Amino acid sequence: MDAQRYNTVAIALHWAIALLILGQIAGGFYMHNLPNTAPAKFDLFQLHKSFGLSILLLTFLRLGWRLFHKTPALPGAMPGWQKLAARATHWLFYFLMLATPLMGLAIVSVSPKDIPTEWFGLVSVPHLGFLDPGADPAATEHLFIELHEVLSYAILGLLALHVAAALKHGFIDRDGVLRSMAPGVGAATGVGGVFIALAIGVSIYFAGKPEPVRSDSTPDIETATPSEASSQRPPPDDLVEPDETVLPQDAAPAQEPATEVADDVNPPPAQAANAPCDGPALAVNWRVDESASRLRFGGVQGGESFEGTFGAFTAEIAFHEAFLDQSWLLVTVQTGSAATGDQLIDSTLPGGDWFDVKDFPTATFVACDIRRAGGGYLAAGSLTIKDFAHDVTLPFDLTINDGVGTAVGGVDLIRTDFDLGADSSWLEDEAVAVEARVEFTVSAQGMD
Ligand code: HEM
Repeated sequence: MDAQRYNTVAIALHWAIALLILGQIAGGFYMHNLPNTAPAKFDLFQLHKSFGLSILLLTFLRLGWRLFHKTPALPGAMPGWQKLAARATHWLFYFLMLATPLMGLAIVSVSPKDIPTEWFGLVSVPHLGFLDPGADPAATEHLFIELHEVLSYAILGLLALHVAAALKHGFIDRDGVLRSMAPGVGAATGVGGVFIALAIGVSIYFAGKPEPVRSDSTPDIETATPSEASSQRPPPDDLVEPDETVLPQDAAPAQEPATEVADDVNPPPAQAANAPCDGPALAVNWRVDESASRLRFGGVQGGESFEGTFGAFTAEIAFHEAFLDQSWLLVTVQTGSAATGDQLIDSTLPGGDWFDVKDFPTATFVACDIRRAGGGYLAAGSLTIKDFAHDVTLPFDLTINDGVGTAVGGVDLIRTDFDLGADSSWLEDEAVAVEARVEFTVSAQGMD
């Protein structure tokens, strides 16, 4: 007698999970073998995690169904050892369907890269906090990757056995076991529904990502004057907000900068009692207009540029063209205000391996050496991010109209100098370039 059929829910879950696992294994090996510079690699990793978690969820549903429903009896003519082997295979499948995605989650939980897991950019999935990455998190991550791979091979091996047995039932024994899991219209619709839902998830993931922007190589500015630097190296379009047209080269008209101030040196400007620089120093004499000022940063990940802004920063500016030797500036940036619009990057940046916002909520740039260079200026000082301080020379152009000064400039930094993403896996696996660019447009009103 033919075996009874599984019901529609069980059949739909069986085929949806089977197809997804096959795709997941093929996709997993494909992405693993992609060169780190491949632009798609980062997205494939994120989608792999989302699909894998979907498989985990469907497996829970399947197990729930299994625990509360009777499955069709195996044919009475089947030898006992075959029945045992069939049952063992099925439970081993359940084990692997749980263990493989959980091992995937274990990888990302111990990874020193600390990349958050967002299910299709929609739901933040907590990592397994109870896992101890040990003294060498990279080695633990590597071990888990190996185990994840072994489990995937085990699924493939078991699948081969399972398919061979199913075909034997269908074409040699002809006992109806194969037909008991054959999808009808209802189950096929269910499988289609799962795939449509996942396709919507993929679209939501990509819709939530900012447009990829053009990668721009930038020449060395060490020896260039600000205006030279500006003309050699226009800030990439991607670092300019759409509604802004003020770029260093645009903002530096042919006129000499700051002549308004230079002509008016009498009476001498007020002195500061507590400036951050040695020797006589001017008091702050410019009030920054935050709404008209921007601090932008950009980098390259997987061959594609990304851009972002620091939404919160303050600048104390003491600047007088005729008293450059007493001019100074102090910029304080709230590191937690960094935002790119990419959910993953934005949730990664505050973490310990990047800005470590919890322990280092601010970064500062203090410049006590401001001098003319070409048609613009150089502000030489010290940039401190976390507890790493390095000398940085910032070229900028300045225009002053009706008492409102607009300074525009930018500088390239090596992020690892400041312990930002210093773990080597950020270079190897995530292919985040060590060069990062910071650009600013600061508008300030002169205070008489
Ligand atoms: C049934 C579900 C899953 C299957 C069948 C599967 C399968 C695979 C396979 C075949 C690879 C390539 C292995 C290699 O060559 O090293 C891989 C890599 C990976 N999987 Fe999964 N995976 C699943 C679920 C997950 C989940 C849920 C996560 C995380 C939440 C995850 C995270 C990863 C990571 C991070 C890698 C890359 C390891 C590396 O190359 O660095 N996987 N997966």
